[in-house]
Amino acid sequence: MAGRIITIAQQKGGSGKTTLAAHLAVALALDSVRVALLDCDPQGSLGEWFEAREATLGEDGTGLDFRTASGWGARREARSLARDYDYVVIDTPPKSDIESRPAIEAASLVAVPVQPTPVDLWATQATLEMIAKEGTPSLLVINRALPRVALTQEIGEALLALGHPAAQTRLGNRVAFAASMGEGLTIQETAPGSKGALEVAALAAEIHRIIGA
Ligand SMILES: Nc1ncnc2c1ncn2[C@@H]1O[C@H](COP(=O)(O)OP(=O)(O)OP(=O)(O)O)[C@@H](O)[C@H]1O
Ligand SMILES: [Mg+2]
Repeated sequence: MAGRIITIAQQKGGSGKTTLAAHLAVALALDSVRVALLDCDPQGSLGEWFEAREATLGEDGTGLDFRTASGWGARREARSLARDYDYVVIDTPPKSDIESRPAIEAASLVAVPVQPTPVDLWATQATLEMIAKEGTPSLLVINRALPRVALTQEIGEALLALGHPAAQTRLGNRVAFAASMGEGLTIQETAPGSKGALEVAALAAEIHRIIGA
């Protein structure tokens, strides 16, 4: 059976797409499945992360494969990678739905990171509509959640009210997520056993349960 394609999309910039793509890919690879990353964002942030990863772990030590694609090439590349890998994780750019649409169309599931603020909530509605139009299932992932903050709770409830599936696992607002990325690593590698690492593992397991073979 072909591998599963997980596209990370959200029109709102800085919502955590690239952070989520890297963390999810490593979490899945740690479960000894074959994972490829596909960067469709011309900003190339995920590529920079991957280069840092090669510098830290060596070219043969990354545990992942990395490719880039743009526009319609993304769909073709994703489907081709899905023949050789169990999971293909795709990072997409903010704003442009034209750039992201082929990656959304090819996906088994689109994970939509959303920060718990009203502005992020507004942008999310448009992203969810676009994904629904392509007929692809989506999964909201609350990112940078602040525990015991009323706004996080309130926005969480407003998101659920949109009527789209949301992950049970939320990723907290933790400096270690950002810091780990600088070394080409993830929080599971720089702070194994930490709360953040457990959140990422739980989220990967949740997604695996939804779409995994
Ligand atoms: N859970 C988190 N805790 C703390 N910082 C985070 C978390 N998630 C993301 N960040 C930080 O937020 C910023 C934006 O994250 P990221 O680059 O992953 O977003 P993006 O959606 O890919 O942005 P863009 O739309 O520009 O591609 C980065 O500085 C990142 O380190
Ligand atoms: Mg990004």
